[in-house]
Amino acid sequence: MDEKIINRDYDLMMKYCQANSEPIDPILAELERVTYLRTLAPQMISGVIQGRFLQMLCQLQGAKKVLEVGTFTGYATICLARGIQEGGMVSTIEVNKELEYISKSFFEKAGLSDRITQIWGDAKEVIPNLEGPFDLIFLDGAKADYALLFDTIIGKIRPGGLLAVDNVLWSGKVAFGATDKGTKMIDKFNQLVNKDERVESLILPFRDGLMLARKK
Ligand SMILES: C[S@@+](CC[C@H](N)C(=O)[O-])C[C@H]1O[C@@H](n2cnc3c(N)ncnc32)[C@H](O)[C@@H]1O
Repeated sequence: MDEKIINRDYDLMMKYCQANSEPIDPILAELERVTYLRTLAPQMISGVIQGRFLQMLCQLQGAKKVLEVGTFTGYATICLARGIQEGGMVSTIEVNKELEYISKSFFEKAGLSDRITQIWGDAKEVIPNLEGPFDLIFLDGAKADYALLFDTIIGKIRPGGLLAVDNVLWSGKVAFGATDKGTKMIDKFNQLVNKDERVESLILPFRDGLMLARKK
């Protein structure tokens, strides 16, 4: 089938989903606009549907303690923080401090500064020193680190807690059998999680593929 037709249909379906879901929040809409104006890779942002989904996962989990790896401009952080229980905390790790002027100002604007802790540094060095257990971890940092971090991260999630991982379809390339380094790396990670008996895993095919792994 023509790839353009698939993409156009997919975009149309996403628009329909957005139009028939909770209305778009003005602060998140502004953050998305600012991200597109001021950053070099704005497509990294979670966006409306995934953001809403992450918020709902926190609500369904009754999450109080959440970790995000890869803050970027703070879009998903805001969604996660809105979904947690009263008195809860979202810790979010980012290596690029140049993004702070955007994320911090939007956390303030959203009135969420008291439920977000920003941690600056390399996730590989930060995570081993974090105190768990977390109800939910959203892994969305460097893709090359996914497999390296998996074991440490699973050790930090409570039984029944969730790991959500972004970009596991790698623009669909894992399914099309592409053989470049990036695709092989993501494919290897997906297989690693699927074979791990500590979790039940599920890949959802929306956006760039979101994996959910529930710790048993
Ligand atoms: C895909 S973006 C995150 C998007 C964000 N979670 C959202 O939903 O809008 C990935 C982010 O991870 C950060 N990053 C990359 N390597 C990292 C590392 N080793 N430790 C912490 N953050 C890292 C990047 O600087 C980038 O901002």
